[in-house]
Amino acid sequence: MAELAVNGGTPVRSTAYPAWPEWDDRELDAVTSVIRSGTWGGFPEPGTNAARFEEAFAAYQGAKHGVLMANGTVTMEVALKALGIGWGDEVIVPALTFTATAYAPMAAGALPVIVDVEPRTWTIDPALVESAINDRTRAIIPVHLGHQMADMDRLTQIAERHGLAIVEDCAHAPGQQWRGRGAGCIGDFGSFSHQSSKILTSGEGGTLLTGDDELARRAHSIIDCGRAKDPDEKEFTFGANYRLGELHAAVLVVAIERFPEQQRQRAEAGKELERVAAGIDGVRIMPADERITRWSFYNYILAIDPDAFAGRTNETVCRALEAEGIPAEVQYPPMSRYELFQPSLSRLPVAVEFSDRLDPQTMSFPVAEAAGLRESVYLMENVFRDGSRGVQDVAEALAKVQRHAGELPES
Ligand SMILES: Cc1ncc(COP(=O)(O)O)c(C=O)c1O
Repeated sequence: MAELAVNGGTPVRSTAYPAWPEWDDRELDAVTSVIRSGTWGGFPEPGTNAARFEEAFAAYQGAKHGVLMANGTVTMEVALKALGIGWGDEVIVPALTFTATAYAPMAAGALPVIVDVEPRTWTIDPALVESAINDRTRAIIPVHLGHQMADMDRLTQIAERHGLAIVEDCAHAPGQQWRGRGAGCIGDFGSFSHQSSKILTSGEGGTLLTGDDELARRAHSIIDCGRAKDPDEKEFTFGANYRLGELHAAVLVVAIERFPEQQRQRAEAGKELERVAAGIDGVRIMPADERITRWSFYNYILAIDPDAFAGRTNETVCRALEAEGIPAEVQYPPMSRYELFQPSLSRLPVAVEFSDRLDPQTMSFPVAEAAGLRESVYLMENVFRDGSRGVQDVAEALAKVQRHAGELPES
């Protein structure tokens, strides 16, 4: 008789994990009051709810300014533009991330220079960042991936040494702190996403955090069609409409109130997962970097060893875990596999101009390739909002899939 649920056996878990997003009458009231007000859009920028959220979120992370906008992709494009980065410039990004991290420099007119990640955390490798710097390099975009943060100590030193800007991609990291400083408050800008699956969500949206008055002013202007934001300033500058509407902003005002309790739950369950999954054959736990002082994550990322899973890779294992009732995904392939960077497929001028350097045939990112194509298993955030039972089920399902890996379809 089949054991594995994917082959028709009984799943480890038959009850669903808590749904995401969480909502109740508070969201309904917030949205209703925007509807009644008649001011639905984001103009004049910032709207009342946008300004309230910007202030609350900036305070929670420890930044001076927040700038709310359409999503967590344009945030990075706007950050680069506000820093004066564009055509002829290079921006260093990691090889394991969502496509937006490398799209943003292209949208600003700059070349993304992709470097591999560290084996210990799967975040950008500072040594490779340093060796990729040349006289066109202007910025680094480290990604705080999954439950980790990039090595902000070394990256800050490198940026200072070479006069580079840092835009932290914090799409996964609202709430995280590094040595007591909030994610997004260490570099020149921190970029956050409020897209549906993210842990501080209104369905769509993004926020830039910065400690710099002038950069905040420029970011506000760029997202508001270039309108002047300083009373003394009369002229429009270069910009477009990247504003977020008040309906979304009102939902975020409630979301940030709920956030600290959700963060506490996930961090507690995350620690328990690290304990209960530690001894499972073929499963490598990558504990959160010890310099993370407030732990807050979107996905928890495990590594499987395909040899211990009868040669099956992450995609097959994730399908088997899903069948066991555990929300698990492969998420990101290595950057060299994204179509955006294939010059023959991309029409972006920067991709065409630098086609020799964006050629996937010549790109090699051994760590990101092993992670993305064979090893990474991303556990979704709701696994960590169901207390002890939630993570014990994960451990049981992983051990079961490993024991019966030979029965899984070939990868
Ligand atoms: C690492 C990373 N950066 C950027 C983004 C882009 O955010 P958005 O979907 O809000 O544009 C995402 C997620 O979607 C992401 O996972």
